[in-house]
Amino acid sequence: MAEDLHILQNSSKEERYKSLIPQIKALLKGETDSVANMANMVAALKQAFNFFWVGFYIVRKNELVLAPFQGPVACTRIAYGRGVCGTAWQQGRTLIVPDVEAFPGHIACSSLSKSEIVVPVFTNNEVIAILDVDSNKLNDFDKVDEIYLTEIIKLLILS
Ligand code: SME
Repeated sequence: MAEDLHILQNSSKEERYKSLIPQIKALLKGETDSVANMANMVAALKQAFNFFWVGFYIVRKNELVLAPFQGPVACTRIAYGRGVCGTAWQQGRTLIVPDVEAFPGHIACSSLSKSEIVVPVFTNNEVIAILDVDSNKLNDFDKVDEIYLTEIIKLLILS
């Protein structure tokens, strides 16, 4: 397992994602426990991007339950179809929300969170978890985040 992450300073978001992917691969190598791997994955993302909140919610029956995360304390359970997370689960697609106040039914775990991206994790075409990333700035996520976060969570399923 790699011990330290090498985070590129003064580089574009895309370059940072690109350099992070092989390092996350190395972190997860040989470990099959998905909670351990989720924990290191969100720690690596937090360290690389200093996201306000980054973490997983795992599907348990008809709701999402809080799983490894980095950031302020958060809501523990989210119903199917509720909030950004429950909607991304229901729709089975990534949601980028530039202004959380403008998203009907957004669940405010923290009033400091301003924009958000939620990426579903699939196994056998079924959503088994979601990755949620929150920013304290408006409009902080775009297609680049969607592409690389999607690639990163695939490492989880393959590991
Ligand atoms: N804002 C999310 C809830 C999770 S927290 O942001 C960590 C939502 O609306 O689903």
